Amino acid sequence: MPKVIDDFVRMCSDGYRLGFNEANGGNASYRMTEEETDICKNELGFDRKSPLVKMNTEVKALAGEYFITTGAGRLMRNVELDPEGSLGIVQIDEAGSSYRILWGLKDAGPTSEFETHLLSHCVRKEASHGQDRVMYHLHPESLIAMTYISPLEDEFFSRAIWRSMTEAVMVIPEGIGVLKWLVPGSSDLARMTCKKLEDYRAVVWAHHGLFVTGSSFDDAFGRAHTIEKSASIYMKILSSGREILQDISDDSLKKICDKLGLKINEELLNG
Ligand code: 13P
Ligand code: ZN
Repeated sequence: MPKVIDDFVRMCSDGYRLGFNEANGGNASYRMTEEETDICKNELGFDRKSPLVKMNTEVKALAGEYFITTGAGRLMRNVELDPEGSLGIVQIDEAGSSYRILWGLKDAGPTSEFETHLLSHCVRKEASHGQDRVMYHLHPESLIAMTYISPLEDEFFSRAIWRSMTEAVMVIPEGIGVLKWLVPGSSDLARMTCKKLEDYRAVVWAHHGLFVTGSSFDDAFGRAHTIEKSASIYMKILSSGREILQDISDDSLKKICDKLGLKINEELLNG
């Protein structure tokens, strides 16, 4: 398999093994480079005659682009056993209103969250000046648990995640966006996720999961993994029932970012 497919498969397998992606839970997409597209075209062969499928949404900014995507209802656990049945490569047409499956996705369409993924790619492509290519959605247990006992506010989640583990701020110095519960796969979820992605690279979906973006598989997966680890420490601290004697101060968070040349989102700090 071409390296980019192997890398995509690895993210899916890691997500399953770490408990982030039970059954068909979660999904992922990747905006391919021209070079990767050429390699995949040569090595996998593209079916240019497959039908164009009209979408409910228009993504002019992605016209002509190629994506790897997980299939609707496909199990992350099975991706490494059957990449061609679990994933696919699709191209968006020149109008930005339809897609065509060029490889894979046997007997399946793209993930039910495809609208969210494509609209998110539009937002992040612009916000990151073309850097962000990966969108990854997962169902991480501690973060989901947090959404039952925490105010659903960007400030609250950002500070809780930053303060529960020293290096969490390094992967989300801008903070984390939080959405109330919305129907999975809905246009509302797509629209509101995109709004948050204008400012953040990670969005919490209350009682459902997390949606992250990144420039590479390592970057996006590392962001998701770190947020969930920090959330699990936060939940352990709360579950201990003990009084918190000390934690990471705002000044310390700023110092971590200063050392790395990162800009912490000061609006989210409470002084
Ligand atoms: P899909 O199987 O359609 O990708 O859906 C999984 C999911 O987690 C929806 O939020
Ligand atoms: Zn989901």
